[in-house]
Amino acid sequence: MEKIVKINNIIKSFKKEITIEGDKSLSIRWALLASQAEGKSKSFNLLKSEDVLNTLKCLKKLGIKIRILKNSCEIIGNGLNGFKYKKNITLNAGNSGTLGRLISGLLIHSKTKIRIVGDRSLSKRDFSRVTEPLGKFGAKFITNYGKLPITIKGTNSPKSIIYHELKGSAQCKSAVMFGALNSNGTTTIKAKKSRDHSELLFKYLKLPIKIKKKKNFDLIKIQGKKKINPFNYKIPGDISSSSFFIILTALSKNSHLKIKDVNINPSRVGVIKILKMMGVKIIFKNIKNYKGEKNADLYISSSNHLKPINCPTNLNSSAIDEFLLIFLVAAKANGISFFKDLSELNQKESPRLLWASKILNKMGIKNILTKNSIKIYGNPKLKINKKIIIKNFMKDHRVFMTSVIAALTFGGKWQIHDKDSIKTSFPSFLKKVSFLGATLT
Ligand code: S3P
Repeated sequence: MEKIVKINNIIKSFKKEITIEGDKSLSIRWALLASQAEGKSKSFNLLKSEDVLNTLKCLKKLGIKIRILKNSCEIIGNGLNGFKYKKNITLNAGNSGTLGRLISGLLIHSKTKIRIVGDRSLSKRDFSRVTEPLGKFGAKFITNYGKLPITIKGTNSPKSIIYHELKGSAQCKSAVMFGALNSNGTTTIKAKKSRDHSELLFKYLKLPIKIKKKKNFDLIKIQGKKKINPFNYKIPGDISSSSFFIILTALSKNSHLKIKDVNINPSRVGVIKILKMMGVKIIFKNIKNYKGEKNADLYISSSNHLKPINCPTNLNSSAIDEFLLIFLVAAKANGISFFKDLSELNQKESPRLLWASKILNKMGIKNILTKNSIKIYGNPKLKINKKIIIKNFMKDHRVFMTSVIAALTFGGKWQIHDKDSIKTSFPSFLKKVSFLGATLT
């Protein structure tokens, strides 16, 4: 049965403290790298969402032993390319681009043909962006016109490659980095700036990686075929999931929120930089370094005078998962905001730039949309009284959660479909919204 959330009232002011589930990018990367280590790795606070559980299921199909315990998860890796390659293996990446693309990098040395499939949304997304560079290692890929299902037949002796990543996609960069682990020689990647969790994990694992940071790109060199030691990891809170609550607080009256132990990797905090430019009050306290990553407690307060922004494009990649939310702040700002060079937003679980415009139109916020940009005419006085129905056919988790935040801060009578979509990245989202005082029916 279709699950709908109805919201008829804005949230009352709150002063609370919450924690957020583990970071999705780090959870998936930990599991995939632990599968390549020799021996038992353990993680704490691993995100138990569908994207991560599908990662574990795919690894199990490849013969990796995994134990999910109450507070931890153990993976017993069989070393580099230590997967058990049975005949006719199909891996289901579900909704997860990160899983589908990164695991492809680990399969360039596979001994049998492996098929990767995904759900309706993932099957519409571009995979040629990883199959083309990964093919250069020598592996054979068959795709469905660049999309899923794909079939991978690994090569006996993967050779190193030179790859130029131009989109600012951490998934493309990481897929090639994972491929490099299994190949002979040194792979060179020139990559437009994007989240660097893979690089930091490689460094922490003492793998032979060299990185030169230039103004607009990073030059990464990885020497392959080096043993990976097992490692324990405590996954910090996810900044992308935290952003729903940062913006809920910023747009609510007289409210304050503390979010404990959130990952504030500089390549992920584009959202914080943008929000601060727009006048949102956010403070980091208790900043700690953890195995190369930076984590902190976040303090957010209601923000009354929001400014419009001409958003600098160099922040696009580091805020890529938060734009739908940032657009809500632009809708409340006093003036016109402009966001450009965002064609990658339409490559996500659903075409999100298009969805942003649809939601804003339903709310009564004037906006001008092009293929890769949006201009938003903010209206700080807007109060919605009408009925708004959000039916998101691709069941995009971020469209659902952004709509909930809009309903709780702008008013109106909302019916938001596809409640189950939150299981992808943030299963406890609605519980946390209720904990802060929202009435959901
Ligand atoms: C991710 C990278 C981003 C992001 C996704 C997670 C990752 O995708 O949108 O949610 O973990 O590497 P792209 O690399 O395609 O921009």
